[in-house]
Amino acid sequence: MENNFVVKGDICYSSSRNTIETFKDSYLVVKNNICEGVYEVLPSEFKDFTLYDYTNKLVMPGMIDLHIHAPQYSYRGNGMDLELLDWLDRYTFKEEAKYKDDKYALDYYTVFANRMKKSATTRVSIFGTRHKNASLILMDLMEKTGLISYVGKLNMDRDCPDYLRETTLESKTETINWILESKNRNYKNTKPIVTPRFIPSVTDEMLFELKNIVKDYKTAVQSHLSENPSEIEYVKELTPYAKFYGDAYDRFNLLGRVHEDNTLVPTIMAHCVYSNEEEIKLLKDNQVFVAHCPSSNLNVASGIAPIKKYLDLGLNIGLGSDVAGGETESIFKQIVDAIKSSKMYYRYVDSNYKGLTFEEGFYLATLSGGKFFGKCGSFMKGYDADIVVIDDNGYTNPNEFSIINRLEKAVYFNLDENHLIAKFVHGNKII
Ligand code: GUN
Ligand code: FE
Repeated sequence: MENNFVVKGDICYSSSRNTIETFKDSYLVVKNNICEGVYEVLPSEFKDFTLYDYTNKLVMPGMIDLHIHAPQYSYRGNGMDLELLDWLDRYTFKEEAKYKDDKYALDYYTVFANRMKKSATTRVSIFGTRHKNASLILMDLMEKTGLISYVGKLNMDRDCPDYLRETTLESKTETINWILESKNRNYKNTKPIVTPRFIPSVTDEMLFELKNIVKDYKTAVQSHLSENPSEIEYVKELTPYAKFYGDAYDRFNLLGRVHEDNTLVPTIMAHCVYSNEEEIKLLKDNQVFVAHCPSSNLNVASGIAPIKKYLDLGLNIGLGSDVAGGETESIFKQIVDAIKSSKMYYRYVDSNYKGLTFEEGFYLATLSGGKFFGKCGSFMKGYDADIVVIDDNGYTNPNEFSIINRLEKAVYFNLDENHLIAKFVHGNKII
């Protein structure tokens, strides 16, 4: 739908890493679903546009979640005293196996999709399970929410419990069928993304097949990379020939390499906590998006990613909730945990990198992560109109605090969870 409208309120958005623009009691004009401009006085040419009046409320771009696991939503907040590999064994694999049953998938993915709809997130990249049908059910449900999403059927042909493992052939066939079936469904907002779970879960034969699938069907790619010390040691044992963890993907063009026609494969790698200099260079050269998941990194004792350094080096970075490594889908919470953990990195690891500023945290959650999806995550002219409105009344006084101070408080008080009163995705009002 082509929508023209105006949103009135206290408007804020990132225009760069260090700048949040603010406009008190102003008008955001949206023309054909795209941001036209923000005005203190509404120009007469837009007077006929529908006006949504959110006076005294905070109007900001939708949040971007570059990494979340839909099937893990049911047990979020449990097992948080375990480390990554034990947590996967004790909780994750058992729960994900249940998605073999379409009815179970429908029930639990309905809960997930409803929660995503109500959150401040407008764009998201999701891991499903290794099951084709459940992944299609998830795509159907996400499409209905109005959010814009990538959804991945996982590949898992080694080193997981028998009840969850696929054969390489089965995984290849199911992946191709899933991509074809999802294309047949003509989704407007939902795309398949090739998703080898992580190196321990996929054989080289599988990665070879995925290389061809990505080339043939021109899909994006997502996975996990250099997350946890014990995982990284294990990857070294499994792939002694790889120069470093990322090299094990890169050998199969699964780390953002270019296609033969010179187009880049859009790629998200979650975590990158322990990437060495060579791996960092490859991430940058191949324009891979790092999904920084600070809550998860704290919960399953992975560590602290050097995000300030990655920003200085010009890597592509966004935030990921990584439910259920992270306990909540709130991206506001990720901003807070990113800032807190970056300060501990500065204090305990490397005093050359100061903690993230609030401006940088908000930038990561919106404009920076949004780049993966195109022009979104900001209200600059030409950006997609992804808008959320937060009612911070009762928490801060709009007449006494600046918009930046109110925004920071709204983020620290997690007002995305219960105080969101409107949401637009690509100019379509979904709440
Ligand atoms: N590595 C492989 N699988 C997973 C997962 O489900 N969550 C996290 N955080 N890391 C992983
Ligand atoms: Fe994850």
